[in-house]
Amino acid sequence: MTKGPVIAIDGPAGAGKGTLARRLATHFGLPHLDTGLLYRAVGLKAEKTGGSPAEISAGLEPSDLADPELRTDEAGQAASKVAVIQQVRANLLDFQRKFAAQATGAVLDGRDTGTVICPDAPVKLFVTASVEARAERRYRELRAKGVDTIKPRVLAEMAERDRRDSERAAAPLKAAPDAYHLDTSDMDADAAFAAALAFIERKGFRSTGP
Ligand code: C5P
Repeated sequence: MTKGPVIAIDGPAGAGKGTLARRLATHFGLPHLDTGLLYRAVGLKAEKTGGSPAEISAGLEPSDLADPELRTDEAGQAASKVAVIQQVRANLLDFQRKFAAQATGAVLDGRDTGTVICPDAPVKLFVTASVEARAERRYRELRAKGVDTIKPRVLAEMAERDRRDSERAAAPLKAAPDAYHLDTSDMDADAAFAAALAFIERKGFRSTGP
């Protein structure tokens, strides 16, 4: 079997990296890891149990990743709080690197996948959008789910999470020097996928699937 690419997708919340990662994984037939889920699981469990985030991250169990509450904004905020702890990052690093080293290749998305987890990945994408565009998308998602919120609140929470993720000392959110920047402010999911795919194909990777 030819080894598929390792595709590392970094960027802030709401830029569309998760959707893009899932579509690229399907297109290339690659396993996909949403690395944010690991931080969400640690943050949520720490809040629920009052346990130490460092200890929780050292012993994460598969059932911790299945909690439906992981997708909530509260879990996202809890994740970004524990994500500043160096020991938590170190404990989660090994699992993420092993995932990336699979013989098939892999797609990983998160805040530091191109800079820290897979600095040698042949394909790195840095997916961004203006904070207003990201908050607007998030607001619509929440309303569609029936969550009662207001736009200024979603925008303020998004800006707060950006600040915490960018200013932290441990693996702050930033683009790898060789990452392809994709600004999705004025793109829908199809346009973002087409732009990313064109870049990956220029790098010489093509889907070998049907
Ligand atoms: O991507 P998601 O919104 O699920 O991430 C939740 C939080 O987890 C982020 O705001 C960030 O603080 C943290 N995170 C991280 N490194 C990653 C993935 C997520 O620090 N690779």
